[in-house]
Amino acid sequence: MIIRKSADEIEKMRKAGRIVAGTIDTVLAAVEPGRSTLDLDRVAERFIRAQGAIPSFKGYRGTYPASICTSIDAEIVHGIPSGTRKLKEGMVLSLDFGAIWEGFHGDAAVTVFVGGQAPSEEAAKLAKETEHALSAAIDAIRVGGRLSDIGHTVESVADAAGLGVIREYGGHGIGRSMHEEPFIQNWGPPGRGLELRPGLTIAVEPMFTLGSEENRVLADGWTVVTADGSLAAHFEHTIAITEDGPEILTVRA
Ligand code: MF3
Ligand code: CO
Repeated sequence: MIIRKSADEIEKMRKAGRIVAGTIDTVLAAVEPGRSTLDLDRVAERFIRAQGAIPSFKGYRGTYPASICTSIDAEIVHGIPSGTRKLKEGMVLSLDFGAIWEGFHGDAAVTVFVGGQAPSEEAAKLAKETEHALSAAIDAIRVGGRLSDIGHTVESVADAAGLGVIREYGGHGIGRSMHEEPFIQNWGPPGRGLELRPGLTIAVEPMFTLGSEENRVLADGWTVVTADGSLAAHFEHTIAITEDGPEILTVRA
């Protein structure tokens, strides 16, 4: 079931999105060598709760133990913050954030380099192109267009850049639940699937790798890693489709 949102509901999602954006800014200011990923989780949880919001990841599916995901280097998504995992210069750090405001979710992710400097030109390209895929996919959203236009755009950017696309995970509807229908795959032909209409609220989230598209979940039951150990990047925004086209709800100031 696709749940379209009213103007009032989208207003609540705008607020949830702003809280997520503020959390990203606050956590990025704390990213530096020597900090643990659990330190970042604490910074995020404190900020989210100080806004009167709820960290949506905590307790997700009954078992996710933290407020954010911290995925380093070959970890693609869903890395679990840890007090013993210390940040080091040049790590490729993907951070994923979610908050609930008055019952509505915001969800966003970014990939950054610890210390600010990419460890290689390839890594710089990986992050730049993954972010570009997200913005190009958002630009491809048109009222009257189709859902698969999004994934097609993501895959086209990866193909042009010679990067791998993670195919098993993707974007999703979002609203009173973090994950609603439809699933939004990051690949495939354009012009298929659901017609994009005002009131749809979705999270778009490309995940690219420098090598193989194959991936597996670690024994912790959460962390998704590239099968060949190659670096991965992940960017995500929550978007509302309005009469005027896509509006990014998790946009940062
Ligand atoms: N932001 C992620 C997504 O879009 C959700 C994180 S999974 C959790 O799928 F377990 F951390 F909640
Ligand atoms: Co998401």
